[in-house]
Amino acid sequence: KNIAIFASGAGSNAQKIIDHFRHSEKARVSLIICNKPGAGVLDIAQREGIESILIEREKFLHTDTYIDILKQRQTDLVVLAGFLWKIPANLVQAFPGRIINIHPALLPKFGGKGMYGHFVHEAVIAAGETESGITIHYVNEKYDDGETILQERCVVTPEDTPETVARKVQALEHQWFPVIVERLLNK
Ligand code: GRF
Repeated sequence: KNIAIFASGAGSNAQKIIDHFRHSEKARVSLIICNKPGAGVLDIAQREGIESILIEREKFLHTDTYIDILKQRQTDLVVLAGFLWKIPANLVQAFPGRIINIHPALLPKFGGKGMYGHFVHEAVIAAGETESGITIHYVNEKYDDGETILQERCVVTPEDTPETVARKVQALEHQWFPVIVERLLNK
């Protein structure tokens, strides 16, 4: 099975998924798609010998270029791991039920455009939440809106800072995202 990862940043989730399937006979990360020159995830692709493509916004939004590439590579699952652009309708429709995303908060709260990185954790703390966590969900045409696959929680205390919440949430991401990817590929 072929996994394509879309990422914009450091790629720590991408790395965990690559590690998880390193010795698998059944699945592998066959492509990394990125929208940000110099992003850490491109270094990971290089180091891991995984094909990476730097996509162009106009082409991504208005053509089937990347859909064709994903299909040419028999992609079975598209995994968004910190990809900051909204997925256009043609891509969502090309892979029905086969595009998933991870969000560093408990959707439907603290979701939507702009809610990423420390902004999310700052908002959670500012709202006086006593818990946060991750949401792994199917992707549809709207931001952070598709059917939930898994949510895992962590405690938030008044002593927490965005950094300490980020650390707890990232630990959940790294623990659960590879597990869910495997579970979906085994379906
Ligand atoms: C994570 O916080 C993830 O929840 C969000 O984007 C971030 C990706 O981090 N979707 P990394 O690039 O995988 O380290």
